[in-house]
Amino acid sequence: MKKLKIILLLLPVIFVGLQFTNPPRTNPPVVNDLAATNPPPAEITALLRAACYDCHSHETKWPLYSRIAPSSWLVVGDVNEGREHLNFSDWPTDADAAAKKLDRINEVLGYKEMPPTKYTLLHPEARLTEAQFKKLLDWSDTAGAPKK
Ligand code: HEC
Repeated sequence: MKKLKIILLLLPVIFVGLQFTNPPRTNPPVVNDLAATNPPPAEITALLRAACYDCHSHETKWPLYSRIAPSSWLVVGDVNEGREHLNFSDWPTDADAAAKKLDRINEVLGYKEMPPTKYTLLHPEARLTEAQFKKLLDWSDTAGAPKK
């Protein structure tokens, strides 16, 4: 019984201590937003902003649980990794590089890998309907094609 009491007393202390390990949440300046070079239709921009920008841009809306360890480690880690792979705030100015990104977007949307389920569980506004998936697929299919 005594051991249990000690553990219960220590838990809040550990929790407070963990808060010193919160990783930094950054939102660096936007370098070159997708809309500056490859402006998609307004509807597509809105879908990307609702479903992708939290992890693939410098305009992350950090939720409360991203400020509290241990969930902060997971959220900040996902955003940093997401930005490394695809960053709508640092969109390639080179047409070939941009086309490659669009290909990858098309691929993950085709498999419905993105937005990740762990994210849409907590962000219902980021859930995409079949029709919205289709719109994003059509856009990413044609936006990267060379202009005729
Ligand atoms: C919860 C954060 C999160 C959200 C929201 C999110 N992604 Fe991702 N995305 C990641 C992470 C992390 C990776 C890298 C690891 C992986 O591939 O799973 C990634 C990888 C990718 C890649 C692969 C890039 C490459 O070529 O390596 C693409 C493309 C992508 N995401 C597109 C999207 C699109 C489009 C949306 C919105 C419909 C979206 N993501 C929403 C976190 C996210």
